[in-house]
Amino acid sequence: MSDTEIRYGLQGVVADDTAISKVMPESNSLTYRGYPVQDLAVQCRFEEVAYLIWNGELPTASQLAAFERAEIAARGAGDEVLSVLSMMSRDAHPMDTLRTAVSFLGQADPQAEDATPEALMDKSISLYAKIPELIAADFRRRQGKKPIAPTSELGFCENFFHMCFGSVPKPEIVKCFDISMTLYAEHSFNASTFTARTITSSMSDIYSAVTGAIGSLKGPLHGGANEAVMHMLREVGSAEKAEAWMLDALATKKKIMGFGHRVYRSGDSRVPTMTAALERIVAVIDTKEAQDLWAMSRVLDDTMVREKGIYPNLDFPAGPAYYLMGFAIPMFTPIFVMSRITGWTAHIMEQWSRNRLIRPLSNYDGPAERAVTPLATR
Ligand code: COA
Repeated sequence: MSDTEIRYGLQGVVADDTAISKVMPESNSLTYRGYPVQDLAVQCRFEEVAYLIWNGELPTASQLAAFERAEIAARGAGDEVLSVLSMMSRDAHPMDTLRTAVSFLGQADPQAEDATPEALMDKSISLYAKIPELIAADFRRRQGKKPIAPTSELGFCENFFHMCFGSVPKPEIVKCFDISMTLYAEHSFNASTFTARTITSSMSDIYSAVTGAIGSLKGPLHGGANEAVMHMLREVGSAEKAEAWMLDALATKKKIMGFGHRVYRSGDSRVPTMTAALERIVAVIDTKEAQDLWAMSRVLDDTMVREKGIYPNLDFPAGPAYYLMGFAIPMFTPIFVMSRITGWTAHIMEQWSRNRLIRPLSNYDGPAERAVTPLATR
């Protein structure tokens, strides 16, 4: 038995420095490059936040215009990757198809290994510009529909709605989606980001790091929770049943999706902003289904906080918001990728800028050393 202390799940371990975001558990808050995330979500468009995450400063008007031109120029994933997508099973989870599509883009890029700062920035913008099209094309093919090409006439979020549905919804709905993009963009050394940094630390290419990060984000304890929240809300059924459902789930020790966080123990500064955005679109959509989802989510939230003192995380309001926007539930985590690609690639660039191979130790608890016996005598 080693006398080294093991931090299971690396809980509480500080693994490196980062200048990208700061998570402050004592105030349940988060800043990107020093700016409170809730202020960025309300006051800036996601394009400005993407620029900030990558460049360290909010853009001027001319810097933003140049950045948006670069993103628009990088749109158009290409026929090859779309045809690869069309060969994949319609039953496969969209995170699996997206992971494969991003990996395909890597093998198609002859400069994939170029890790100069300029090349990494170009590839980051390219992935940010192309991933929405891959998600939208996959959404449509599952309904037997042809992909809709991106348009240079629309901004990042509007263009995504256009590629999914052939139209752009009301501004309040686009703003709610834009807010979710900003809130999901970056969160220090979470599992998928740390995966991306670990892959980068062996000097592997950016596509490999992003492909691995997508695999990590897929899990229900990480990004997959926004989908799980929506399945849970459908299972609960109505606001009238919500309290009894929650009490029963807690009594049987179920993990309630969309609640709890490894770092924030008493709330998450992203949640009030996303909840307010959800409430606004519920009022704009104003169907019975929207009102019911909202009422149900309020009862679940109140009951969980009252009974356990465990607060909702960002996935709790984001799941129903994406559902009400018309997205299929299995798309929710790919939508998270559309945003988190900014944080992942910022970390990949930061890792490259002062790389040291990530290689922790383990405490061996298997059999003691022993002699190999020949096959005939075993
Ligand atoms: N539902 C029910 N109980 C929960 C809970 C939840 N969502 N989250 C935490 N708890 C309870 C645990 O059962 C544990 O209770 P115990 O001490 O009686 O065993 C206690 O709170 C501590 O939780 P723990 O699982 O040790 O915390 P963690 O840091 O390992 O887990 C999460 C953090 C996010 C993995 C966990 O809260 C979770 O599974 N949440 C649901 C999935 C989710 O929403 N993920 C998205 C995260 S952004």
